[in-house]
Amino acid sequence: MTDKMRFEKILEPGQIGKVRTKNRIVKTCGGAEDIGGRNRAFLEAIARGGTGLIIWGDVAVEHPRGITIPITKRYLSDDTNIPAFTKIAEVIHKHDCPAFMQLFHTGPQAMLTGDLQIISSSGLTENERVELLAPMAPRQLTISEIEDLVDKFANAAERAKKAGFDGVEVNAARMNLINSFLSRAWNKRQDRYGCASLENRSRFLVEIIREIKNRLGQDFPVITLINGIELRIDKGITVEEAQGFAAILQDTGVDAIHVRVFGYHGFDGLDASPKVTYYSEDTKPLPKELDWSRRGKGALSPLAAAVKKAVSIPVITVGGLEDPVVGERILREGKADFIGICKGLMADPEIARKTAEGRLDDIAYCPDCRDCARVLFSMVMTSEPVAIRCRLNAALGSDQDYEIRPAQKKKKVVVAGGGPAGMEAARVAAIRGHEVILYEKENRLGGLLPWVAMIKGPEADRDAMELADYLKNQITKLGVNIRLGQEFNPSLIPGINPDAVILATGGIPAVPDIPGINSGNVIHIDDLYHRMKDDLDLIEPAIMRGMSGYWESIGKNIVIIGGTIEGSGLAEFLVERCKDVTLVDEGNIWGDEPLLRSPSMRKVKTMPGIKYEKITDKGLIITTKEGKRRTIEADTIVTAASPRPDTGLLKAFEGRVPEIYLIGMDDKEPGSIMNAIGNGYWVARGI
Ligand SMILES: Cc1cc2nc3c(=O)[nH]c(=O)nc-3n(C[C@H](O)[C@H](O)[C@H](O)COP(=O)(O)O)c2cc1C
Ligand code: SF4
Repeated sequence: MTDKMRFEKILEPGQIGKVRTKNRIVKTCGGAEDIGGRNRAFLEAIARGGTGLIIWGDVAVEHPRGITIPITKRYLSDDTNIPAFTKIAEVIHKHDCPAFMQLFHTGPQAMLTGDLQIISSSGLTENERVELLAPMAPRQLTISEIEDLVDKFANAAERAKKAGFDGVEVNAARMNLINSFLSRAWNKRQDRYGCASLENRSRFLVEIIREIKNRLGQDFPVITLINGIELRIDKGITVEEAQGFAAILQDTGVDAIHVRVFGYHGFDGLDASPKVTYYSEDTKPLPKELDWSRRGKGALSPLAAAVKKAVSIPVITVGGLEDPVVGERILREGKADFIGICKGLMADPEIARKTAEGRLDDIAYCPDCRDCARVLFSMVMTSEPVAIRCRLNAALGSDQDYEIRPAQKKKKVVVAGGGPAGMEAARVAAIRGHEVILYEKENRLGGLLPWVAMIKGPEADRDAMELADYLKNQITKLGVNIRLGQEFNPSLIPGINPDAVILATGGIPAVPDIPGINSGNVIHIDDLYHRMKDDLDLIEPAIMRGMSGYWESIGKNIVIIGGTIEGSGLAEFLVERCKDVTLVDEGNIWGDEPLLRSPSMRKVKTMPGIKYEKITDKGLIITTKEGKRRTIEADTIVTAASPRPDTGLLKAFEGRVPEIYLIGMDDKEPGSIMNAIGNGYWVARGI
């Protein structure tokens, strides 16, 4: 079967209103994006990668009351942003890809301060407040305010068209303002916009769509994004209600319906990360309305399928659909007409092209690690602009062209170290046409990835081994000369004569200077790894993870010195093995937000901002934040300070090769996989 036949449905041209798409892959909106060069570079890469349609935005129709992250400046309540948005439409169109703008009003989710009040369909008391980020309970909109907002949506749509967008998507999902009318969990009104009937609840949305169509023409395409169900909340939208709304929307002239889910009370990540929901302990039992047969991939498709039964216009599904095999199946089963992908295209903007070329092995599959979503969260909380970043796609968040172009001069490049940083550097250098030799002193590639996979487990970091396999596969295909079991050292230089050497051998373990640090009850995290390394070479990390006997000798009470990624990860792992774990640091515990929110981490005692005094055979003596001296009793003390860059190694090579780079170690940022990959990528792009 040819690839065209294998992916017949996903590669089939589609139609949303008058807009034709070259295939059925839709980039759904990812609202952490800025509106400048960084975003244009990203959107251009997705358009060039063959995507059928890009929905961009989360553009607020009212500012500042309607925007979730004011710092992103994505609003169209006046003409200020039209020039920036015009450039966005232009880069997308350059690659024969249509562009839709998502319009929304955040309503009850707004992070407002000062005199501005948060608005919703109905006023809620502090007690009735659902789980909102917002700092106050919302007040009810008056009829004239509703009419004004209908006008604002239509004004914004006019501006979107002026900026060159081919259509708009009206976001009526999540906990946004429009959803607060659709959902009886929010809507307690008794007037014509009230909760008495589906017609009343959808009136605000219907008026918005009518007004957009009246102003821009009946043939101006409008998609509507709705919650196909609201979970874990009393009177939330049901599937049957969503079908009713869909039918009303079709009658109003909507051209396509994009169906998502929204969950409250611990389920708030479900719409963005169904795969994480599948693995998380917090989200059991899994909601039966969704399809969990593929571990979260395409979990939301039953909602699209239900809506599809109620309408004849196209239906878009979304959620963990970066694997074209899954997308194709959903389309073949008639559950949806378009496959929406957000994170998958952040990780690999070329999914569509690679699918068409049958290069499925070359797709960098997003593991749903959520590193990107953390940036979003941090922007909401701090209002500081941060470039969105991706664990796999180092180009994300930069304003440079994503295309890796051939180097002007072909060079001989030696990479020392076959971990993620080294393999990524080798991959990029080889794509650029360099002759690449990779040395790895162990007999396998992957560096610490098996250890990471074992510590984090298949639930949280199931991607580590897949990442190792992906990179191995890529560098092998690209013809990198891989020399396993060989350590690269300066004596090899004359024989090889490289133009550039990239040192990606990892850092040197940092040992904190505490009296008693060399006692028998202290072990460094690196030594723990080395103890199990040989076994990890032979036994799968998931199996090793289950071999709890391994950890008996370490004792029951453990103190981990170092609130680093490594320290926090180990703390979580050990607490899950019934150890009593205290994680201490003189500064912050890294991962306060991402890791420390995990259920297991709540069982770890964390003590940031303390002072280490001494290690004795009883444990670690500290001075607490409050200035009290105390002993934390421990059988074993593990040091997990961030490793230091191996500058000695760098010196040994200096002057012997024209170019030398030390990568994978950045003492300013935590040693995450994302930083390792990013470092390898950018260094290799510069050679
Ligand atoms: C960082 C980030 C930002 C997002 N912002 C928006 C947004 O502004 N509007 C929206 O409708 N969906 C937004 N989404 C949701 C995605 O469009 C998509 O529905 C979700 O990520 C699930 O699809 P995926 O598994 O392909 O990522 C966002 C998702 C992420 C990860
Ligand atoms: S950061 Fe992680 S979750 Fe986000 S797109 Fe990249 S790989 Fe996927």
